[in-house]
Amino acid sequence: MTTRILDGKFASEKIKQEIAKEVQSIKDNGGKCPHLAAILVGNDGASQTYVGNKERSCHQVGFDSTVLKFEDTITESELLEVIDNLNNDANIDGIIVQLPLPSHINENKIIWAIDPKKDVDGFHPANVGKMTLGLPSLLPATPSGIIKLLEIYGIETAGKNCVIIGRSNIVGRPLANLLSHKGKYADCTVTLCHSQTKNIEEYTRNADIVVAALGSPGFLKADMIKVGAIVIDVGITRIPDPTKKSGYRLSGDADYESVAPKCSWITPVPGGVGPMTIVSLLSNTLQSAKEK
Ligand code: GUN
Repeated sequence: MTTRILDGKFASEKIKQEIAKEVQSIKDNGGKCPHLAAILVGNDGASQTYVGNKERSCHQVGFDSTVLKFEDTITESELLEVIDNLNNDANIDGIIVQLPLPSHINENKIIWAIDPKKDVDGFHPANVGKMTLGLPSLLPATPSGIIKLLEIYGIETAGKNCVIIGRSNIVGRPLANLLSHKGKYADCTVTLCHSQTKNIEEYTRNADIVVAALGSPGFLKADMIKVGAIVIDVGITRIPDPTKKSGYRLSGDADYESVAPKCSWITPVPGGVGPMTIVSLLSNTLQSAKEK
């Protein structure tokens, strides 16, 4: 099988260049620079890296970016006040709260407090509801990044069997919804598998497209997919590795070495879905700025 790579780094750079051009033209015409505000609570290493990457990407395309960092002792009501201030700040176009939050804070309460027009993560129930109905909305970044990647590589999805492993609100469930919509880079027959699914390999072996989004390194093995399958690996787990300068390496949810040779297309980790998530966040922020 000839295996081709769905190169998220390449695709995201291409989209970033388009966004940067549009931002420059907004600025040249005296418009306001799009501005993303990110809230980071606590000292989780992975969350710090993600927020750092988002901030760097904002600067690459010419956005303004503000990162608000708080100790994990911040209370729910203090955080709600921060969000209220950002909602009312005309200079801010997009707000994200990096998840997970400490356990004493109710994540839903925080997400629901964000102005849906500034909810560039697409997590607010107003945006989730619109997405579900196929209405224009701010789409969640990872699912929309995956669909953009399929689009850039011209991968036809109509009528294909798509098995998604993992039912999170951030990836699995919204992606299942989007891929089952009518239209291009959708129109799939979607099966959503999860921790209670019995004999998961019976589903994945029949899938034309397998999306692994469960957060279990190397879970998807070669004997779980058919020859020619398209594998989208959303996993990104840090594995301690003393040979690396950082002290860790990143592992996807697919056992890449064994799975890749059997696939027609596969996303690498890193450099697959991750950069596409960030670029979708940038697109949402630009959309939100333009709609103001
Ligand atoms: N934590 C893991 N993924 C995400 C994401 O897409 N957005 C936010 N805000 N937090 C996350």
